Amino acid sequence: MRIDILTLFPEMFKGPLTESILKRAMDKGLVEMYFHDIREYSLDKHKKVDDYAFGGGAGMVMTIQPIADAINKLKSEREYDHIIYMTPDGERFNQKIANSLSLSGNIMILCGHYKGVDQRVRDQFITMELSIGDFVLTGGELAAAVISDAVIRLIPGVMSDETSALTDSFQDDLLSPPVYTRPAEYDGIKVPDILLSGNQAKIDEWREKQAYKRTKQRRPDLLDE
Ligand code: ADE
Repeated sequence: MRIDILTLFPEMFKGPLTESILKRAMDKGLVEMYFHDIREYSLDKHKKVDDYAFGGGAGMVMTIQPIADAINKLKSEREYDHIIYMTPDGERFNQKIANSLSLSGNIMILCGHYKGVDQRVRDQFITMELSIGDFVLTGGELAAAVISDAVIRLIPGVMSDETSALTDSFQDDLLSPPVYTRPAEYDGIKVPDILLSGNQAKIDEWREKQAYKRTKQRRPDLLDE
């Protein structure tokens, strides 16, 4: 998979996407990520990328020209399955969308700043608009990093134990059951006996019940779906 990110702040992605599992995925060639500085595409002599909103109001709007030129250049080089715009008024991102995006070949993600991008960018180029929650970030960069992380870990070969992504919370609309590791007793606090029983069928049944119980307590809305 190839992910192209269009941003005014490419440096913001250093760290979240260049460490740990995601770094290994890139080193193994399972995913390629490219960060494009929108400002470099500005034809303005001062490399301006934003302007006042027509009709007035506080806050600057990102102009269409640099974004259009950046998107058109990338589109002329390869086909994209999705051109995604990160915005708080987009569709709420979830595990189902992550699963579906993980099957893509090439995706492009546009990160907005200030009051967002000129609506014509959205109308002309964007195929999917995503939000990571009902709150407003300073820009789309952290949201794009979140989505890239959630998608990349689903690509076969990225996680060391492939089945572990399938047993994540949300994969079956249930939260994950509690997990324990050694020691079996710490300061008098014991691990549930069933987990030490060696009876895999009983353990699976216990885990399923716990997942259901936790979901009912914490996220009953998932059970309604
Ligand atoms: N940009 C600013 N806030 C955002 C959010 N909640 N989700 C996606 N993109 C954003």
